[in-house]
Amino acid sequence: MSDPAAESTGLHRLAVANLTIHHGQLRAVDDVSFSVGASEVLAIIGANGAGKSTLLRTIAGLHTQTSGSITFEGEEISGLRTFRRVRRGISLVPEGRRLFPSLTLEENIQVGAQKAAAGFFTIDAAYELFPWMHERRRQRVGQLSGGEQQAIAIARALVANPKVLMIDEVSLGLAPIVIERIYEFLPTIVAQGIGVLLVEQDVSQALAVATRVHCLLEGKTSLVGAPSELSPGAIEAAYFGTTHSPSTPEESP
Ligand SMILES: Nc1ncnc2c1ncn2[C@@H]1O[C@H](COP(=O)(O)OP(=O)(O)OP(=O)(O)O)[C@@H](O)[C@H]1O
Ligand SMILES: [Mg+2]
Repeated sequence: MSDPAAESTGLHRLAVANLTIHHGQLRAVDDVSFSVGASEVLAIIGANGAGKSTLLRTIAGLHTQTSGSITFEGEEISGLRTFRRVRRGISLVPEGRRLFPSLTLEENIQVGAQKAAAGFFTIDAAYELFPWMHERRRQRVGQLSGGEQQAIAIARALVANPKVLMIDEVSLGLAPIVIERIYEFLPTIVAQGIGVLLVEQDVSQALAVATRVHCLLEGKTSLVGAPSELSPGAIEAAYFGTTHSPSTPEESP
C-alpha cells in the first residue's frame, strides 16, 4: 500500500505495518497494517473486543506494541511519548470522551488548545463548526448531553490542529439524529486535509462516511476495502467470523 508519490509529498500521513499488540498474554491486535492519507477517512470496524481501541491507543502512545512499526509522515514514532505524538499532529478522541465534567465547555476545549500547533482550528473556528457551543461555553460539561459531550471531545481534539484525527466510538450510545449532527463536522475537517481514523460501531454509518473500511476480527484484519467494493455478506462474515457464501447458486457437493 506504499505510494512513493504520496510519501514524498507528505500525503501519506500515518502508516502502521505488521502491528502486533498484547495485553499480557492476550494478542489483542495481530499483524495489522494500514495507512491514512490526507483527507482520507479510514473506518475501523469490528465486534466488541476485536482490538479497535487497543489499536488507536497504541498509535496515540498510550500503550506499547509488541512488534511492528508506526510511522507518521515517513518517520517512526513508536518511541515517542503521547504528548510528542500530539505535537507531531496525532490527536485521539478516546472511548468514553474523558472530558472534565466540572469544567466549562470552553475550559475543556482550551485543554486541547494548550501547546497546540498553529493552524486552522482555533477555539473560534471550533465554535463556527459547532455554533451551539458558543452560547453554552460557560456551562459545565457534566450538565450536557452525551451527543453534546461527544462534539466537545471532537472540538477539543481539533483545536490541537492534528494532521490525523482518531476518534474511538464516534456514535456509541447516541440517537440517530444526534449522530447525524456529529458527523456534520467531517466534510469541513477533511477539506483541511486532515486524515481521519475512526472506530464506528454502526457499520452502515462507517460505510457512509469512510473512504476505506478496515475490519478486525479477534485482532486480525478480516476485510479491507472501499465501501463500494464491499458486499453486505462479506462485511457480515468479516465482522462476525462466519462463513460468507457469495451470492452464486448452490453448487453440488
Ligand atoms: N487494559 C487491558 N488489560 C487487559 N486486557 C485488555 C485491556 N484492554 C483491552 N483488553 C482486551 O483486549 C481485547 C481488545 O480490547 P479492545 O478494547 O481493544 O477492543 P475493542 O475492539 O475496542 O472493543 P469494544 O468494541 O468493546 O470497545 C479484549 O479482549 C479486551 O478484553
Ligand atoms: Mg473499544
